[in-house]
Amino acid sequence: MRNLESKIVFITGAGSGFGRALALELAARKAIPVVADVDREGLAGTGRLLQERGARFGSQVLDVRSRDAWEQAARDTASEFGGVDVLINNAGILSRAESFLELSEDHCRALFEVNFWGMFYGTRAFVPLLALRPEAHLVNVCSSLALIGTPMASVYCASKAATANFTAVVREELAGSQIGVTAVFPGASKTNLGRNIPVDNAEQREANAKNFERFATTPAEKVARKIVAAIEHRRPVVVSGVDAHFLNWFARLAPRAGYKLMAAAYRKVSDPKLFAGLKALTAR
Ligand SMILES: NC(=O)c1ccc[n+]([C@@H]2O[C@H](COP(=O)([O-])OP(=O)(O)OC[C@H]3O[C@@H](n4cnc5c(N)ncnc54)[C@H](O)[C@@H]3O)[C@@H](O)[C@H]2O)c1
Repeated sequence: MRNLESKIVFITGAGSGFGRALALELAARKAIPVVADVDREGLAGTGRLLQERGARFGSQVLDVRSRDAWEQAARDTASEFGGVDVLINNAGILSRAESFLELSEDHCRALFEVNFWGMFYGTRAFVPLLALRPEAHLVNVCSSLALIGTPMASVYCASKAATANFTAVVREELAGSQIGVTAVFPGASKTNLGRNIPVDNAEQREANAKNFERFATTPAEKVARKIVAAIEHRRPVVVSGVDAHFLNWFARLAPRAGYKLMAAAYRKVSDPKLFAGLKALTAR
């Protein structure tokens, strides 16, 4: 899709981080972002930024976990804008930094509900609309942790690996159609992902945010530019950030060594208290 001007681009998780950066980057190219998020305040903030830039845009409150809400979003977008050219499944949540034995089952389910099922419902609701356009594109935001996972994030890594594999198969199922498919593998980036982890209290929020911010280096705007370029050039894969390239290399050439190295690096940088619970639960 060489020219994004006047293209309708539906973006989930657009109230913060990559989603907001994508909306602004697309508006700068005269595309029409339709921003969606479950967080009304964040969504309004993105709306204000788009308004300040004089952009034409749409805005919808959407909880990606609801299939019915997705079907309504598809109908609303089609009736307001006459169709949709690009879907970016970006909404996601990170897990608490806890071992697989400590994560609550509810928390594990929430991760899959947003990160996998949200993307799945969105893809199924919107691809029939994309199919009506002369050229169209689907973007699914995975994670570099879908390539090589890290300790204390087992279920997040699994939800993103599921999304990555689903996307790779969908790309082949749609091969020969006019719909391009991109899987995005960002490394740790400066967004609110750590701060938005579902937690029980403020203390947990700060601890999780602090742990995430130790690793997050790449600016969200840089990731957004790479995703937009992938839509323009119909690239199947985006890997962004030095850490993500490193993991991609290991995933292809030496995955076992990659996991070991990742775990060693994580232990070195993170708070040793994180491993205390697991140690106690598995001590003989
Ligand atoms: N920041 C990183 O380091 C990083 C790295 C790899 C992948 N990712 C992925 O990038 C995507 C965007 O995350 P981000 O880093 O911009 O984080 P973020 O927390 O800044 O933004 C995520 C947005 O998703 C929204 N969201 C959460 N649950 C939702 C739901 N049920 N329905 C609709 N919206 C919902 C949040 O309200 C938030 O606005 C996520 O899928 C994340 O897993 C992020």
